Amino acid sequence: MKTIVHIVGARPNFMKAAPVWKEIQNLSKLRQILIHTGQHYDNYMSDIFFKELDLPEPDFNLGIGSNTHARQTASIMVKLEELLININPDLVIVYGDINSTMASAIVCSKISIPFAHVEAGLRSFDRRMPEEINRIITDQLADLLFTPSKDADMNLLKEGIDIDNIHFVGNVMIDTLIKLNPIARSPKKFNNLMDYILVTLHRPSNVDDIANLRSILDNLLEISKSSPIIFPIHPRTKKVLSDNNIIFNTNENFQLIEPLGYLDFLGLMKNAKAVITDSGGIQEETTWLGIPCFTIRENTERPITVLIGTNQLIGLDYGKIPLVIKNSSKISNRKIPDLWDGRASYRIAEIISSFLAD
Ligand code: UD1
Repeated sequence: MKTIVHIVGARPNFMKAAPVWKEIQNLSKLRQILIHTGQHYDNYMSDIFFKELDLPEPDFNLGIGSNTHARQTASIMVKLEELLININPDLVIVYGDINSTMASAIVCSKISIPFAHVEAGLRSFDRRMPEEINRIITDQLADLLFTPSKDADMNLLKEGIDIDNIHFVGNVMIDTLIKLNPIARSPKKFNNLMDYILVTLHRPSNVDDIANLRSILDNLLEISKSSPIIFPIHPRTKKVLSDNNIIFNTNENFQLIEPLGYLDFLGLMKNAKAVITDSGGIQEETTWLGIPCFTIRENTERPITVLIGTNQLIGLDYGKIPLVIKNSSKISNRKIPDLWDGRASYRIAEIISSFLAD
């Protein structure tokens, strides 16, 4: 029996891996093994997603944790190399653009294990972003490249990737959203809150510099005078606040809360008036939901979300945020990108079974 290894490491990987795992299980008689690098380790950054998304417990957890880029990447590589040599899989699947993705890609290619990259081809063209480096390296080495949108195919072709290895399959994150949307509810304590804005922030460019973070928070406070804000805070952002002894008093109109699980967050997102974020995945989820999204970044690797019209890049001029929000309006004609239809992981499973049958 052939063996597939899935490697996940951090929060945005889990909702991508879950539907692919399920479809491969439904379609074929392949043995599947799940490795968690442990890049994210808190319950609310990791364990809760396994339960909600119905992902099996990882067979192996490398327990890597947080560190500098080089140390984190290197620790994953050292442990993973030994483990993959022992398992000797027929194919490895990696997801997204985190350090665990790139570390796994390098290990697989050096020990000649074929691997597939789910969410290949996205480019922000901004090499100051750690994720951009992870994307470029992973795609250069991958044997199968599964793309979520046609712009990603074009990026890969320009980088010299063989067209036969590129498969436009759609967006696996949307597979999970479509499946769980009907049961996602806002947490009870927010049931009576209307017209609120949901905020997430964790990009180093926005949160690692305390002056930037302060300026964003001041502008959010300004917005909260007219629209309530719910802000589940990422541990990275929380750490910067606590390292700088900043205690943020939350009130009815500005609720700084712990990170949420998938279902609570989706429940809040689909009922929000708007979302302010610097996340990649949330730009896509709001596109499918038809919720206005304001992205605090200068660029995006997901240009289709801007093209469709739900996502607006507001750059790093934080003072502009209140005015942009004030002038925003509802999305009137919800459009959905090609193949964001809940079947992307099914297409991946089919391509993988024929790849392994060859
Ligand atoms: C990582 C990914 C980023 C992704 C994000 C989603 C990289 C380079 N970055 O960023 O692409 O969008 O995950 O969340 O791979 N921490 C905890 N508990 C945890 C995990 C982290 O407290 O479970 C804290 C630690 O203080 C750590 C910091 O968060 O130093 C940053 O974690 P790290 O995994 O390095 O990067 P993220 O910012 O989470």
